[in-house]
Amino acid sequence: MKLSKRLAAIDALITEPEDIIWDCCCDHGYLGMALLKRAAANHLIFVDIVATLMNDLEAQLSSINKLQKTCDKNSQWQVLCQDVGKIEIAQSKSQVVLIAGVGGELLLRLIQQITVNNLSEHLNNVRFILCPVHHTYKLRVGLKQLGLGLISEQIIYDNKRFYEVIEVSFNTNNEISNTGNEMWDFTSAEHAMYQRQLINHYNKMLNKDALYYQKVIKNYQELTDS
Ligand SMILES: C[S@@+](CC[C@H](N)C(=O)[O-])C[C@H]1O[C@@H](n2cnc3c(N)ncnc32)[C@H](O)[C@@H]1O
Repeated sequence: MKLSKRLAAIDALITEPEDIIWDCCCDHGYLGMALLKRAAANHLIFVDIVATLMNDLEAQLSSINKLQKTCDKNSQWQVLCQDVGKIEIAQSKSQVVLIAGVGGELLLRLIQQITVNNLSEHLNNVRFILCPVHHTYKLRVGLKQLGLGLISEQIIYDNKRFYEVIEVSFNTNNEISNTGNEMWDFTSAEHAMYQRQLINHYNKMLNKDALYYQKVIKNYQELTDS
């Protein structure tokens, strides 16, 4: 299974062996399976709230002989059917939480819940790699409020849609900007197109909350003001 450009960009951010990787909101589990295949972590945990999806995924993983789960304690992978907001982050040297393919507002709520439900000393060794569908501005503001700092960010143009891949942790002081200051390259026609799309989108939102969206538009325009 070839990963989409978006999922491949996330996969590429995992360059060192990890203790635990969580493929949250995993659905089909393509990303986690690619990581499992290249033994990117000692333990790979797939999480989604839809039972039928998780039953299918568990059956698929079990049928792959070399990945066969022998006993829970030593298993390389685990499938959890539950709310991602309730995952229990264990103490470990290196851990990655991946959340992709859900709206930015839901994604922020999930991170807020994970933060509230887990010990800060456990969260300190976690890298969060996030790729929301829309609402990245609100997500970024919320991540910053939680005290997360930026590791990396990039724009991915995949199948005629723009995505942002945002890598954050509690272990860095690099401030997360509202508009992703580090990810833009305005010599790229694609990036210029993404900026125009965002500004057009937020212009359409002005009738909902003029004051707030005027500020958002101004922030995106400032990216190219010299
Ligand atoms: C579009 S899929 C994303 C699949 C994959 N991560 C990707 O990016 O291609 C979104 C998945 O999020 C799951 N989901 C939504 N809210 C959830 C929650 N609170 N806890 C666990 N899974 C959730 C849905 O069941 C669905 O399978």
